Amino acid sequence: MKSITINIDKTLGFVTQEQINAWETKAKASIDALHNSSGAGNDFLGWLHLPSATTDEQLTAIEQAAGRLRSECEIVVVIGIGGSYLGSKAVLEALNNSFDLLLKERKNPLILYAGHQIGEDYLYELSETLKGKQFGLINISKSGTTTEPALAFRILKKQLEDTVGPDKARQRIIAVTDARKGALRTLADQEGYTTFVIPDNVGGRFSVLTPVGLLPIAVAGISIRELVAGAADMEKATAKDIPFADNIAAIYAATRNELYRKGMKTEILANFHPKLHYIAEWWKQLYGESEGKENKGIFPAAVDLTTDLHSMGQWIQEGERTIFETVISVGDPNHTVVIPTDQADLDGLNFLAGKRVDEVNKMAELGTSLAHVDGGVPNIRISIPAVTPYYIGQLFYFFEKACGISGYLLGVNPFDQPGVEAYKKNMFALLNKPGYEKESEAIKARLQ
Ligand code: PA5
Repeated sequence: MKSITINIDKTLGFVTQEQINAWETKAKASIDALHNSSGAGNDFLGWLHLPSATTDEQLTAIEQAAGRLRSECEIVVVIGIGGSYLGSKAVLEALNNSFDLLLKERKNPLILYAGHQIGEDYLYELSETLKGKQFGLINISKSGTTTEPALAFRILKKQLEDTVGPDKARQRIIAVTDARKGALRTLADQEGYTTFVIPDNVGGRFSVLTPVGLLPIAVAGISIRELVAGAADMEKATAKDIPFADNIAAIYAATRNELYRKGMKTEILANFHPKLHYIAEWWKQLYGESEGKENKGIFPAAVDLTTDLHSMGQWIQEGERTIFETVISVGDPNHTVVIPTDQADLDGLNFLAGKRVDEVNKMAELGTSLAHVDGGVPNIRISIPAVTPYYIGQLFYFFEKACGISGYLLGVNPFDQPGVEAYKKNMFALLNKPGYEKESEAIKARLQ
């Protein structure tokens, strides 16, 4: 099997190879801190050896539960937010047919998402869509108390129970949550739902390779074994004993920290394969929540290209020079489309006739990278041989490992997210949640 590679040549000129190499000692110390559990947030390092520690029995149990939903349901609604939804959504978007919603003859249930926002119209439309359909629910919440998914679950659980009766509903609901604590654990135990556990030592944004990601991915008919195998191979490729120059996670972490030090405060993750849009959304959460703290951290942004060259291209080319770009470059597409000859050639595209669409895309990628570098945007290229479960598994683990290293290089705890609580406190106070009386008075006074 091939492996993901990294190329930082187009950052040189903005930073030097020596400056990147100067991070080696710190990067090594960061890797040691991860592997020896001696750094900040060391009670959340369960993701580090997760791929190699995942057993055949665990995968079989997930596949069996997924098989049950697959055989009974036309639609499965995955309920979760943040780390409890973005990983599976990323895989499904990357590997499912882009027009999945419209497929008439389905091999796999349609997977829809809920609980990742609080839009009333969205929930109404989802609920209408589910009417008359055989559907099931996968409710994912590590804490078991997050408002957005809890709200969606309350509404959809009632709809399911009203439709098929409480007994059947119980068989169509799977909960993925903490082993012992939280409201979802209590409810799941009371109702006798099938459950899967999110390990205590794996934080939400690092949980895609636990049942959080694996169960919905298996329900969608995508190989979780290949995904985990890819991640396990990347675990080896970025292990503690791999020299700095060969460890692509360390190189990525060092390069982005050096660029940050030089004033590049925003990293734009770009792809020329728009099916990777949600990989970027997953990456944004991973890096945003891990590094954005103590008034520090690279701002993680993302673009789908060439689409966004027609909206953000101007800014990237000529806006404030505080950005760098990391391109996920895909080797071979999974399908072939050849450009036909047109006799009239009114669009003047006959010079492309006989070529694959991907050849045009590749030249767009190359031309864009050169233009952006010329415009003062350093460019890191991460090459992924193809968009398959195996390589997405590699990509997930690569970004996770690099994130742990990068957070330590930045000097923050990459495994907490204290800032996420601020909006919740205000929202609960405004909604008069019991226990928030004092905050409620204070916030209402501020609003007068
Ligand atoms: O990374 C994190 O821990 C968070 O973003 C969570 O993934 C998100 O808030 C969802 O939390 P939970 O799974 O507890 O509902």
